[in-house]
Amino acid sequence: MPTQTWAPATEDRSREAFGQPLPGLPDALRDAFFRGRTLFRQNWVIAPSRDTEVDGLGPLHNRISCIACHNGNGKGHAPNGPGERARALLLRLSVDGQDKHGGPRPHPVYGDQLNEDSIPGVPPEGRVRVSWQEKIVKLADGEPVSLRRPSIAIDEPGYGPLGPAQVSARIGPGVFGLGLLESVEIQTLKDLAAESRSTGMQGRLNIVYDAASNRQIPGRYGLKSNRSTLRDQIAAAMHGDLGITTTLMPAQNCTPVQSACRSQPHGGMPELTDTQLDDLEVYLAWLAPPAPRPAASAAVKAAVLRGQAAFGAMGCAACHRPELPLGKHHLLGDLSGQRIAAYTDLLLHDMGEDLADHRPDFLASGREWRTPPLWGISLLHMMNDRVGYLHDGRARTVQEAILWHGGAAAVARDRYATAPREERQALLEFVESR
Ligand code: HEC
Ligand code: HEC
Repeated sequence: MPTQTWAPATEDRSREAFGQPLPGLPDALRDAFFRGRTLFRQNWVIAPSRDTEVDGLGPLHNRISCIACHNGNGKGHAPNGPGERARALLLRLSVDGQDKHGGPRPHPVYGDQLNEDSIPGVPPEGRVRVSWQEKIVKLADGEPVSLRRPSIAIDEPGYGPLGPAQVSARIGPGVFGLGLLESVEIQTLKDLAAESRSTGMQGRLNIVYDAASNRQIPGRYGLKSNRSTLRDQIAAAMHGDLGITTTLMPAQNCTPVQSACRSQPHGGMPELTDTQLDDLEVYLAWLAPPAPRPAASAAVKAAVLRGQAAFGAMGCAACHRPELPLGKHHLLGDLSGQRIAAYTDLLLHDMGEDLADHRPDFLASGREWRTPPLWGISLLHMMNDRVGYLHDGRARTVQEAILWHGGAAAVARDRYATAPREERQALLEFVESR
C-alpha cells in the first residue's frame, strides 16, 4: 500500500475553530459554503412571512435554528436538574415494532421525537424533565468518582398520556469533519466490522433507510449510525428539530391526530428548497476537523505520548480508531491516499445495560451505540461552558465517560480503572488533547 498522508485539519484554536472549511474549498463552492453557514445559524420564522427564504418553522419543533443545539458547531450538554430546560438534548420516541422501512415505529400520537415547542395555535408536545441519581464508584487505587444516571420524564404532555413508549435521550454532537467521515468507503467499514468481530469488540454496521435512493444502506450519522448520508441527516434534522420540509421529507411533522398542527399554513412545498439543502450539505461536508492541541511543554508532550500508548494498550483504539483511510467523496473529491484521526470506526457496539436506551434503531439494538469521534475534544469547552459526554450527556468528564463503558468495552474500562494513577492521567491528557 502506498504511504498515506493525513487529511488536512484546521490549526484554528479560537471560538471559530469548528467553523473553518477544509483547505482547498473550490471557488465554485465558496458561495454555497457561506450560504449554508447562514442557513445553519439562521432563526426560522412562522409561515407565511415576507421573508420567504426561511419561513415555515414548525408547526411543531424543538428549536428555531440548527446552531441552537450545535453551539459553535460543537457538542451540547444535558440539563443539570429538573428545573433546567433541555437545550441540546432531545427525546426520540417510538413504540414496539418497526416502520415500513425497518426503522423505529413512531408513537401514533407524538411521532418519533418529542417536540417541546410549537407555533401559536398548536399545543406543544410536552417538556423533558431530567433528574439525576448520583453514585460513587471507586477506582482500583481507591480514588472515588461520582457518576450520575439520568431519569427522564415528560411534563405537561400536550396530547394526552404517552402510554407505553420507547424513549431515547440524545445530546447534539459536534458537526465538523462530517464530509471526511462520509469519505470512508463502505468496504473499509465492512473490513473494520470483520476485524472488530474477530477481536471481540463486536462492531457492526447499521443498515438504514435512505430516502434519496429509496434503498437500505449503511448508516454513519446519528448516535446509533441511524442516518445514511449527510444530506439525509440534514433533511431529518430540518424535519424533526425545526419542522421544515424538504423534497426528501415533504410531509409536515404532524401525526394524523394532531389536527391543529395539520391545518397550519406551510412555508412552501418544500419549505427548504433543494438549493438550500445543497448549500447546507456543502457547508457541513467541508467543515474541517481541528488538529490536536499543540503540547504546551516537553513534559505535557511526554505525557500525551504515554497516554497515546495507553490508549492502544487499554484497547480504546480498537473502537476509537486512530486512523481511517479515505476514498472518493461527491463534494470533497478523491481523497484516496489520505487518512483521518477521528477516533471512531463508525460502527455500533454493545455498550452494556447501563448505557442501554432499550430503543432499537434499524439494526442497532437498545444496547448498541456508534463509537463517537473523539477529535475536537480539546476545544469543546471553548464552544460551550459545559460539555456532556455519552449519548445523553450524563458524563461530565472524559473519565466519567470511560467508567460508564460496558458490554464489549468493559475490558477496556477495567484496564483503565485498574491502571496506576499516572497512566490514567496520561491517558486523559492524550484524549483531552485531541
Ligand atoms: C434540539 C436540538 C437539535 C437541533 C435544533 C438540531 N440538532 Fe442536529 N443533532 C441533535 C441530536 C440530539 C443529534 C443526534 C441525533 C440522533 O442520534 O439521532 C444530532 C445530530 C446531527 C448531525 C449528525 C452528526 C453526527 O455526528 O452523526 C448533524 C449533521 C446535524 N445534527 C445537523 C443539524 C442541522 C443541519 C440542524 C438544523 C436543521 C440541526 N442539526 C438541528 C440535536 C439537534
Ligand atoms: C467496544 C468499543 C469501545 C471501546 C473499546 C472504547 N469505547 Fe469509548 N465509546 C464507545 C461507544 C460506542 C461510545 C458511545 C456510548 C454512548 O454514547 O452511550 C463511547 C464513548 C466514549 C467517550 C465519550 C465521547 C463523546 O463524545 O461523548 C469517550 C471520551 C470514550 N468513549 C473514550 C474511550 C476510552 C479512553 C477508551 C479506552 C479506555 C474507550 N473509549 C474504549 C466505544 C468504545
